Amino acid sequence: MQSLQDKASEWSGVAAADAFAIDGCNIFEALGGTPQPFVDLSTNFYTRVYEDEEEWFREIFAGSKKEDAIQNQYEFLIQRMGGPPLFSERRGHPALIGRHRAFPVTHRAAERWLHHMQQALDTTESIDADSKAKMMNFFRHTAYFLVAGLETTRQHSHGCRGTACKHGASKPAE
Ligand code: HEM
Repeated sequence: MQSLQDKASEWSGVAAADAFAIDGCNIFEALGGTPQPFVDLSTNFYTRVYEDEEEWFREIFAGSKKEDAIQNQYEFLIQRMGGPPLFSERRGHPALIGRHRAFPVTHRAAERWLHHMQQALDTTESIDADSKAKMMNFFRHTAYFLVAGLETTRQHSHGCRGTACKHGASKPAE
């Protein structure tokens, strides 16, 4: 059977090695070792999401306050990109598939999410071009990992046990 990682690679068009190139360097340190670039990116991203002209997409986020969504995202990104484990300290294990179970994470929703993230990256000056490219590969792969994981758990209702979930893992200590 095709693994979730394989499906994510096929659907996103991003090989696992490119998706996890973020682990071959420390993007948090490369960007200055402060939360600011991640706060900038998440604020930019969610401002676009909450103002999306596509109501069906905006509605997916209607149950969360924008400020909370921004903080949840930038703390996750800081942790995942080599910084302190802010997300896990406040929210627990990222468990991304489980945390998205309540939402309709379809192929169409993934493309819309990625559209906003690409635009947010393009207009965030505190992140350099190389980091942007690496982050976008990670985002594309993770978005389709979520689509595949949620399709699977909805079909078989057995969670993502036994699956290597590198998407949410903290960067290993160096
Ligand atoms: C939270 C939707 C992709 C990481 C959320 C929330 C929604 C959502 C509605 C709740 C907002 C909040 O209260 O924080 C989606 C959709 C996606 C998607 C439709 C399309 C594929 C992603 C990707 C990542 C991600 C690619 C990581 C790279 C997170 C994190 C949270 C979150 C870390 C916060 C969870 C928490 O604190 O409980 N997402 N998401 N999401 N999402 Fe996504």
